[in-house]
Amino acid sequence: MAEILSNIQVSPGVFRMKIAGKYEGRAGQFYMLRGSRIEPLLSRPLSIFDLSDHYIEFLYQVVGEGTHLFAGLKRGDSLNLVGPLGNGFPVLEGRIALVGGGIGIAPLYYAARQMVASDVFLGFREEAYLVREFSSVCSRIQVRVGGSILDEVVFEDYDYIFVCGPTGMLKAAGQRQAERHYTGNLFVSVENKMACGIGACLVCSVKVPGGTKRACVEGPVFLAKEVDFDD
Ligand SMILES: Cc1cc2nc3c(=O)[nH]c(=O)nc-3n(C[C@H](O)[C@H](O)[C@H](O)COP(=O)(O)OP(=O)(O)OC[C@H]3O[C@@H](n4cnc5c(N)ncnc54)[C@H](O)[C@@H]3O)c2cc1C
Ligand code: FES
Repeated sequence: MAEILSNIQVSPGVFRMKIAGKYEGRAGQFYMLRGSRIEPLLSRPLSIFDLSDHYIEFLYQVVGEGTHLFAGLKRGDSLNLVGPLGNGFPVLEGRIALVGGGIGIAPLYYAARQMVASDVFLGFREEAYLVREFSSVCSRIQVRVGGSILDEVVFEDYDYIFVCGPTGMLKAAGQRQAERHYTGNLFVSVENKMACGIGACLVCSVKVPGGTKRACVEGPVFLAKEVDFDD
């Protein structure tokens, strides 16, 4: 069990939770989290928001039973954590854009800290949050409230583009790649529903040419051109 150091609301329904301890992980990897109560039975996947020698942080949106339970936790309460899981973002050099929509910004803070020369694009539906924190770790940031943050990204300016957000946004990014004949590498981080998080149940399967891949083991980060979003 791990001890919660803080669990602060940063925007309506969005919380930043800091947990004590030394944890491992790359940007784009995730942990399965579960409260100490019996219900809900299944753990919930959350991306690494930040890491240090003394704590790990998560940024999460309250959507259902599990995340509602997380939001009620206080300093001194405890949680079960399993991870790091998944493949995470590849470590690359070149011109890099990190693009997040809504709570899809969660894995990008740690990514921006590691890929210091990257440009960061953050899109929000109604209200921006944590912009100052992101600004402090990247050289260039663009924020949009309403509309699509993808409209701000000139694909051709980048060798690598990472997109995290709702499935509709990932699909739209894939379509733009095709329309613009973008020859760089477009990566997406999928948020398929998960149950075990360790490759055993196949709940998280992603359709790819010639079969399926498990988002929790072979993903959640995929080249956009590998993923069949129409599945
Ligand atoms: C690799 C990965 C990383 C993620 N990182 C974050 C993050 O950093 N911050 C954040 O706010 N959210 C993140 N999510 C989404 C988050 O896991 C879900 O919002 C959460 O599991 C919902 O649980 P719930 O009990 O509140 O909702 P419910 O809808 O009651 O959940 C019911 C079941 O469906 C699963 N589920 C529901 N929605 C999702 C979803 N979008 N993705 C995966 N499983 C889902 C739950 O795990 C649970 O088993 C991530 C998802 C994945 C797959
Ligand atoms: S969540 Fe069980 S195989 Fe991926």
